[in-house]
Amino acid sequence: MKPTTPSHTSTSPTAPLPASAPLTPFSIIEALAGREIMVTGFTGFLGKVLVAQLLMDLPAVRRVHVLIRASRSEDALSRFVRIAARSPAFRPLRERFGEDLGAFLGARIEVHEGDVSEPLFGLGEATVRDLAPRLDAIVHVAGLTDFAPDPRRALETNVEGALNAADLAARCERAVLVHTSTCYVVGIRQGHIPEEILATTPSGRAWDPEAEFAHLQALACHEADSDTQAAQREARDVRIGAASARADLLGFTNIYTYSKALAEALLVGRCLKSSRRRAVPLTILRPAIIECAEHFPFEGWNEGINTTGPLLWLCKSYLRHFPSSPDHNFDVVPVDTVTRSMIAITAMAMAGRAKAVYQLGTSGSNPMSIDRGFELTNLAIRKHMASSEHRSERNFKRFFDNVLVPADVEHAFSPLKLKRVARGLRSTLETLDIGALLPKSLKKPVGRPIERMKDNAELFLQGADRQLGRVQKLFDIYRPFIHDNSWTFANANVRAIDAQLDDESRERFGWAGDAIDWRKYWIDVLYPGLGVWCLPLLEGKEAPEDPAVPLVLMPPTEVPEDAIELGDDVEHVLHHVHTHAAHVHTLDCGHDLPLREELRDDEAGELSTASTATSELPL
Ligand SMILES: NC(=O)c1ccc[n+]([C@@H]2O[C@H](COP(=O)([O-])OP(=O)(O)OC[C@H]3O[C@@H](n4cnc5c(N)ncnc54)[C@H](OP(=O)(O)O)[C@@H]3O)[C@@H](O)[C@H]2O)c1
Repeated sequence: MKPTTPSHTSTSPTAPLPASAPLTPFSIIEALAGREIMVTGFTGFLGKVLVAQLLMDLPAVRRVHVLIRASRSEDALSRFVRIAARSPAFRPLRERFGEDLGAFLGARIEVHEGDVSEPLFGLGEATVRDLAPRLDAIVHVAGLTDFAPDPRRALETNVEGALNAADLAARCERAVLVHTSTCYVVGIRQGHIPEEILATTPSGRAWDPEAEFAHLQALACHEADSDTQAAQREARDVRIGAASARADLLGFTNIYTYSKALAEALLVGRCLKSSRRRAVPLTILRPAIIECAEHFPFEGWNEGINTTGPLLWLCKSYLRHFPSSPDHNFDVVPVDTVTRSMIAITAMAMAGRAKAVYQLGTSGSNPMSIDRGFELTNLAIRKHMASSEHRSERNFKRFFDNVLVPADVEHAFSPLKLKRVARGLRSTLETLDIGALLPKSLKKPVGRPIERMKDNAELFLQGADRQLGRVQKLFDIYRPFIHDNSWTFANANVRAIDAQLDDESRERFGWAGDAIDWRKYWIDVLYPGLGVWCLPLLEGKEAPEDPAVPLVLMPPTEVPEDAIELGDDVEHVLHHVHTHAAHVHTLDCGHDLPLREELRDDEAGELSTASTATSELPL
């Protein structure tokens, strides 16, 4: 059966649901059967889970097109195969399909090499023409999640990337655009945050998105006056400084949220119909802090250094005083809660039944306060450190609770105070002349060992000074999110979808945020999950990987049109791919490459000089 063309009832990208919208139970499974969906950002945390869940739960989707950029060492297809073969996100698919996985993926996945920062993602006219009649939705997930990036990169990825997604959608006959933003575009606005596009900046200034775009582009133009690395670094710091100041002026918490807010505001205008292009139905998704999976791909899975990991890492250190506001919300949402709703919203958007903005956070209906988060962290530490292999954790650390303190009141254990103490001790040691202090008779026997102890103590204090500086930097990065601002993100739109779904769709794709038991999630899912998947990265180690399986992919062009019908189930699909197994291609699944591959050329210098891991905390 051919996929039917969706009828979009919206005439403007942000049009509300028409009063006459049908209220018959909506089946996501039926709505997505036979459809073709493009997902950007597949190689990231959210993108992997989204694509894996689409493939796992909706085998009747005709095709998932993944847009992947080449890395320094691999082309897009090899990156896809390596992730499918080794990422824990694909573990359920590997378990379900076994050695048939490659055939299943070959029938469902089309990999496109492209870069979101290029016009039409750099896909080339022939590919765009091929995709135009086929794509039903572009789910734009790709983004740059560093908090303080070079504004050039934030512009290219977060702003121009979103506009390029809109342009590609406009070239398609019917594709809707589902754009991933963040709840934190709200900036310094406080309290109840509605599901609306910002009409003014968070600091209350008038907001002309196109003029702001030009302003940011001008800031990003600042060039170094020579080719030396130092000059390049200095110019980049000037750009970052200027963009941070601009973000601050407009009321955004950092360059990342400023660029994401600008993208949202620009998209609204760009998706409207013009004489040269069709209107693109636009839906904006704003997740809050995305963290460990509750169920899919399996309990606790996480990837990379997300927001809670560094906080937890600090909570497990000897530092136990946190500058935080106890009664503010800490809006965490499991990654699979986000992806199941993303699937539901994409289906609603394709049917012309979506709202303009969906906030995918928990604070609106199942809030967890910062106070409660720390309380649960203390409980988790007591529980899990009781069986720790480290004696210091078993016998000592687990009995000391974390304490919340106001940020601006200096206390005995504040990093700045400890830093001053470390510096003071170090300079005292430096001026200490051991030789002059010791009586002649002791100089020979103990002089040298004492000198060595002094040197070691100086080194230790130097290290402590550096570490405390990093901790303070971390607190500064987190301060807007755990201390300064109080937000409750409305989430009525995603919750309202449930009432429109049929029972099966609600069960599989309904809003799962209200059912989260924070105690269970925090102590038994998030704490151990971050311990396995995130904390090793913070300690300079690798996260565990699954053993690679060999993968065999069938080129999608060889899957006949009638192969995938409404109601297709896994067995049917498998039968189909076996029938065509003669055409399969074997691909090297990159056994020797690490799952998180090297940085691209343009990023390597930047990260090595600009940021510790902790400046890359996405919200
Ligand atoms: N994680 C959170 O807590 C959170 C919260 C709210 C919203 N969000 C939003 O959710 C989205 C995904 O976040 P994430 O945590 O999954 O981020 P992530 O793990 O850092 O992944 C980012 C993805 O974007 C891709 N990308 C970046 N620049 C690209 C380019 N120029 N061309 C093609 N692909 C590009 C990356 O590809 P490479 O592998 O090639 O770099 C990667 O696949 C982002 O838009 C983010 O703003 C995240």
